[in-house]
Order: sequence, then C-alpha cells, then structure tokens
Amino acid sequence: MLRQFRVLWIALFLAGYGLAFGDSIPAGNAPAPGSEGDTLTKVDKRMAYLVYKLLDKDGKIKGANLERGEKLFYQNCRGCHGTDGMRVDFTPTEARPTYLGKRAREDMPTFWYQMNFGDDSREGMNPFYDEIELDEMVDIAGYAQTLP
Ligand code: HEC
Repeated sequence: MLRQFRVLWIALFLAGYGLAFGDSIPAGNAPAPGSEGDTLTKVDKRMAYLVYKLLDKDGKIKGANLERGEKLFYQNCRGCHGTDGMRVDFTPTEARPTYLGKRAREDMPTFWYQMNFGDDSREGMNPFYDEIELDEMVDIAGYAQTLP
C-alpha cells in the first residue's frame, strides 16, 4: 500500500517535470478542464496539487493555518482517531505503532490520499473529498503533522 503511493508520487513528479520542461505541451496551454485533452483523473489532480503546491522539500505542508486545522481535526477526525491521533495504530502487526501524526509527517502522500479518497482495502476510513473543502484539508494535513 505505502510503496504504491511512493511510486505514484515519483510518477507524478516525472509527469510534472515533463509538463513543465518538456516541449510537448507549452506552459500555460494546459487542456481546458473537462475537454478531450484533459485526461487527468480527480485522483491525479489532487495528488499533483499536493506535490506541486503544498509540499516543501522536507515533505511538510506549506501555508497551513494550524489553529483552524486543529478545529477541523477536532470536528472531523477526532471521533475515530482520538484527540492526539493515537487511537488507531495503522501498523498493528509491526513492532512499532504508526499513528496519524507519524504518517502525516513521514508520508504525506499516503495521508493525503487516504483523507481525500478513503481506503478501499480497510473498513472505516471514508473519503472526505466531497465533504471537506480543499483549503480546509490543507489545514488539517498541516495540523496532523504536529501530532505525536
Ligand atoms: C468513522 C471513523 C473515522 C473518521 C471520522 C476518520 N477516520 Fe481516518 N481512519 C479510520 C479507520 C478505521 C482507518 C483505518 C485504520 C486501519 O485499519 O489501520 C483510518 C485510516 C486513516 C488514514 C490512513 C493511515 C495509514 O497510513 O494507514 C488516514 C491518513 C486517516 N485515517 C486520516 C483521517 C483524517 C485526516 C480524518 C478527518 C478528516 C479521518 N481520518 C477521519 C476511521 C476514521
């Protein structure tokens, strides 16, 4: 699962590099959203947005309002994940637990994917793509990186 997202991350990076510096599609001439040439899925777009607009070189979310993120986390996530994000251990079969804060700090692409699109392979984590606005997700993601 995690490896899968790392591969996606790299693929998006390369695709973006090609778009930015390659000569196939001139900059500023991207296909109109919804047009025939617009082949990116909403998953591609959300993941690319993370990689290009939100992550700094250390994998930290840029420009998050942590105060608002805390409130939104409290409203939307705390019920299941706990106030500190430590109610659910994502790696119960491994010796060391992985909680939400650790996941957010060390593997934001996975965190971002799961928050947006949920988890098909496991019960319980629902997609928030249609529930929470993008700018609010940025704040939640930034706040989650501060959790233990
Ligand atoms: C209804 C309960 C519920 C709510 C609400 C909820 N989650 Fe989850 N979440 C889960 C469950 C259950 C899992 C899967 C845990 C497992 O099986 O390892 C999960 C998994 C995740 C994962 C995957 C972590 C990993 O790497 O495996 C992330 C990230 C996550 N949740 C973030 C959030 C965020 C952010 C919110 C609030 C916007 C949220 N969740 C709200 C129940 C919930």
